[in-house]
Amino acid sequence: MTIDYVEAQNAWILTTRQTSYVLRVAAPDNWLQHLYWGQKLPRNEDYFAPGMIAPPPVSYSSPNTLVEEFGNQGLLKWREPAIRAIFDDRVRDTVLVYDSFRTGQSTTSLPELIVTMRDNFYPLKVHLHYQVVEDLDLIVRFVEVENTGSTPIRLEQLASAAWHLPVKAETETYRLTHLAGRWGSEFQVRHQQLSEGKTVLESRYGFTSPFANPWFALDGGYNQEYATEEYGSVWYGALAWSGNWKIVIETLISGRTSVVGGLNNFDFEWFLAPGETFTAPAFVAGYTAGGFGQASRNLHRYTLNYVLPRNHVNEVRPVLYNAWEVYTFDVNEQNQMALAEKAAKLGVELFVVDDGWFANGSYARNNDRAGLGDWEINRQKFPNGLKPLIDKVKELGMRFGIWVEPEMVNPQSELYQAHPDWVYHFPHRERTLQRNQLMLNLARADVAEYIFSMLDKLLGANDITFIKWDYNRSITEPGWPDAQPERQREVWVRHVQNLYDILQRLRERYPQVVFESCASGGGRADLGILHYTDQVWTSDNTDAWERLFIQEGYSLAYPIKTMMAWVTDAPNAVSKRSLPVTYRCHSAMSGVMSLGGNLLEWTQVELDETKRLVAEYKQIRQIIQEGELYRLSSPQTGFAAVQYVSRDQRESVVLAFLHSQKFLRSTPRLYLRGLDEKALYRVEGLEQPVSGAALAHIGLKVSLKLDFDSCLVELHRVN
Ligand code: GLA
Repeated sequence: MTIDYVEAQNAWILTTRQTSYVLRVAAPDNWLQHLYWGQKLPRNEDYFAPGMIAPPPVSYSSPNTLVEEFGNQGLLKWREPAIRAIFDDRVRDTVLVYDSFRTGQSTTSLPELIVTMRDNFYPLKVHLHYQVVEDLDLIVRFVEVENTGSTPIRLEQLASAAWHLPVKAETETYRLTHLAGRWGSEFQVRHQQLSEGKTVLESRYGFTSPFANPWFALDGGYNQEYATEEYGSVWYGALAWSGNWKIVIETLISGRTSVVGGLNNFDFEWFLAPGETFTAPAFVAGYTAGGFGQASRNLHRYTLNYVLPRNHVNEVRPVLYNAWEVYTFDVNEQNQMALAEKAAKLGVELFVVDDGWFANGSYARNNDRAGLGDWEINRQKFPNGLKPLIDKVKELGMRFGIWVEPEMVNPQSELYQAHPDWVYHFPHRERTLQRNQLMLNLARADVAEYIFSMLDKLLGANDITFIKWDYNRSITEPGWPDAQPERQREVWVRHVQNLYDILQRLRERYPQVVFESCASGGGRADLGILHYTDQVWTSDNTDAWERLFIQEGYSLAYPIKTMMAWVTDAPNAVSKRSLPVTYRCHSAMSGVMSLGGNLLEWTQVELDETKRLVAEYKQIRQIIQEGELYRLSSPQTGFAAVQYVSRDQRESVVLAFLHSQKFLRSTPRLYLRGLDEKALYRVEGLEQPVSGAALAHIGLKVSLKLDFDSCLVELHRVN
């Protein structure tokens, strides 16, 4: 059983293939107590064995030993709360007690436990949802808060889940792994040994942000054992929210570490009118003994199976072309047609026009100072609209896609001149510009409707099957002066809810369209947006070596099928580094290979090699995009290697990259993973097939020499 109710203990045991998660109603106060999260035990009795895991019944008078499943503020508690509410009589104290439970199935057909808590005086109910992903050892949690009374309740803080790790000795702590970054260097992997106190990972920017990503991993668990890619205990999770988020990792002197995560309480307030329910985003987490590699593979599979939009999830992602690095805003019919011809010859399947195609007259989008908001096709650049270009692209056998940044407006635009009140602002305050633009107040229903109808018109009038949806600034002056005072702080959440809603409506009306999430690169990548967009523009940094670091971090949390990677020019537009074309291609082939260089100026060698490798990529991309990922060697070591294995273990691909030659050393052997040890594999470059076991234990020899050498090895099972 994945969900067991143990009546004698008033407890629930959630069981997955390898793990279990246990909570119960604790006497005498009827609060909800967390008991266990980790490796599954063979006997259920052990979860409750006196003196073992479960502490003797504790009451609210023992704040330091109290492990509350979903902590609230009130009584003797000072830890990061999961919920804070203010009642109509200004009481700011919540005391949640157990009310009831039910089990059922989620909309995604997962077994679900719903435990309802209620305030012991006020008309507030909190429904804690637990969905069990048995085969992936994951639990998906979220909460619904319900006002069952006749007066309003204000929410000031609401997490999606609190996760509790096994208790440690006072002198031992967990190690946190998280992702930090900025423009051009998103998803950098960081490790930090925790100490007593809080570590806060968060965004207050209004969007996910490149600075921190809502994903965490904790290791150094049992006996201070640290995990590697392959072995060791890791507790990890990812939050499905694309607005202000917060994950608080808190360690107490008592040896307790917990992770409380969800909506950021910074400037947050939600007005819950009588009868209303508010739902917090999902927070998925898991435990594995299989190291960071298994943690990633579990999250990848979960995202593929349950998160990504269903209508395109089973298609391989096409090779696209985008000329942003070539022309920036100077796109026109002629130069795009010329590139389209070149791109088609190299095997490109989707041709995308980036920024610069819209707005007219003095607001024409010729740079980032004007035009956002005026989504009319620029008549100088495209005198006959987009149709001639789209026809040409289709004639060449490709599909057509386009860039938009719908949530934004330049003051230099017809839209802003007509509706200056449509942006976030406070009276008497300057409207702060970032990249010369302001942010539309998507919390407003009329603005949300405008954005939907603008895109509806664009997609309805043109044969567009791909949208790159960009977002290039943070929210400042988050004011909504026209709203009721008690609703004004809801902008942070309403913006994201309405964004999701617009995407959902567009997907329903235009199911053929594939959406890519971009925020100055990989600034909006999270499990929330990935429910509405099919892929992510990983970074504006397309340097093939630096990309390996970005891709390593991205792949810790998100699946390869969503990780876009372009082959661009030498020297690279960002780093100015010149890398061999084969190396550039191999780096992009580690994700969703696409092209973004000036094909009109590439040498014949570059064109021929790219054409060859695009063709090879198409042969193996299903393994790369849908297979299991093994990070064999980190780019941090100067030698990077990744391996992908098809789910039936019949095919595998290895990509390896040397940064620079040193002391004539040979490159390390690659001990391959995920193969069937008994099966025989034909390995490119080897005369005879060898067993999976030999590849795992003798290892694969790859000889990379000099600087920026790389290789790709295909393996095919022969028996
Ligand atoms: C952002 C994106 C780029 C490009 C530009 C267009 O910076 O990350 O890829 O689309 O906007 O202005």
